[in-house]
Amino acid sequence: MRREASEPALAAPLALPCGVVLANRIAKAPMTEGLADAGDDATPALVRLYRRWAEGAAGLLVSGNVMVDRRFLERSGNVVVDQHSDETALRAWATARPGGAPLWLQLNHPGRQCNRFHTHEPVAPSPVPLALGGLFARPRALAAAEIEALVEAFGAAAARVRRLGFGGVQVHAAHGYLISQFLSPRTNLRSDAWGGSLANRARFLLAVVRAVREAVGPAFPVSVKLNAADFLRGGFEHHEAVEVARWLAAAGVDLVEVSGGTYERVAFVDAHQPASTTRAREAYFLAYARAIREALGRTPLMLSGGFRTPAAMDAALAEGEVDVLGVGRPFCLEPGLARRLVAGHRAPLPSPERGIRVGPGPLGPGSRSRFVRSLNAQGATAWFYEQIYRLARGEEPEERPGWAAAVAARHLWQDARRARQRRWRA
Ligand SMILES: Cc1cc2nc3c(=O)[nH]c(=O)nc-3n(C[C@H](O)[C@H](O)[C@H](O)COP(=O)(O)O)c2cc1C
Repeated sequence: MRREASEPALAAPLALPCGVVLANRIAKAPMTEGLADAGDDATPALVRLYRRWAEGAAGLLVSGNVMVDRRFLERSGNVVVDQHSDETALRAWATARPGGAPLWLQLNHPGRQCNRFHTHEPVAPSPVPLALGGLFARPRALAAAEIEALVEAFGAAAARVRRLGFGGVQVHAAHGYLISQFLSPRTNLRSDAWGGSLANRARFLLAVVRAVREAVGPAFPVSVKLNAADFLRGGFEHHEAVEVARWLAAAGVDLVEVSGGTYERVAFVDAHQPASTTRAREAYFLAYARAIREALGRTPLMLSGGFRTPAAMDAALAEGEVDVLGVGRPFCLEPGLARRLVAGHRAPLPSPERGIRVGPGPLGPGSRSRFVRSLNAQGATAWFYEQIYRLARGEEPEERPGWAAAVAARHLWQDARRARQRRWRA
């Protein structure tokens, strides 16, 4: 594929190991949409949202997390992909791609990060509670047979994803959800084959990847989102992520997306890692991506978190530090951003997260309370949920963010109300 000398690096196509070619290096990173109906099915609003994003000419669109087990949601409005799903609705979502950008579905199970509105008995590798203001009940440890059933559930969901016309699948192994809980010695205290050594803690992830690959065949893109580290004492560490990346490459994954953090340490949207260069301050996991890049060998790496200037994006590609640039929040404000970046229009991406106001004094950014810090981060994220709703209604996004705690409270109230309205299909 020939490129004009003046074309920015981010306009270059990328061939994945499975043979699929991405048209350029900009990916819309996964962002939970909350747009499913009360039966957990895809909706016309979701189709409208993805039409809008697809028109923006990104090389890749990754969906927000979609659940493989309808008993456990990450939040109200999650789509569920299982044997009860409305396949016509899913097919309409899969084909909402006027610009032709591939749409990959991100599969997830929240594990202990499933709040009390949805369950009073979450499941996890071990009964380690998530102490965030009483919002999460103490989890129950999964039995070995349940773990095996979950591996099958991921595989069955992936088979549906392919059959219904999506362009690829991503396994969510980051951000403190179930697979990430297995990887972390802080949340995985098991003494059987699923816990202990890193090889045992990674067994669930690798079994899921194998099941997914078997379900979709060799020519369909399979990706994994992995934490570069949890950034928590006793959590999944960077050197372990490097090793797991090596195993993922050997398992034939097509693209590893690197992020970081969990609900306890919301680094994925709010990292303040030490950084030696301006570029690394902007793309806050860049310093961690290097070792993972090496471990991956020829398997491409996508990095998400903080990219806001074409200069930093181009440089990360030119230096060979990343292959795909994951961009999240700016897509909520400027859905067409990839088209103009690829065309060489180099204005920075919108970053309204800088203007989100948290409370004063003890409610502010320096709060000593983990609950307050988490509430502020939740509110800052939920403001982007509201912009996603606006895009899905065909409206323009808001200009100015509000107060984080107020947005968080509004979101929690909606989550609780919609959880009560859910219609179960057993
Ligand atoms: C509103 C919102 C929802 C998100 N939902 C998901 C999700 O469903 N799955 C996921 O892997 N990451 C999710 N993320 C994290 C993003 O994929 C991305 O890693 C993060 O926003 C950092 O990239 P950015 O600085 O370009 O926004 C979400 C982030 C935001 C802001």
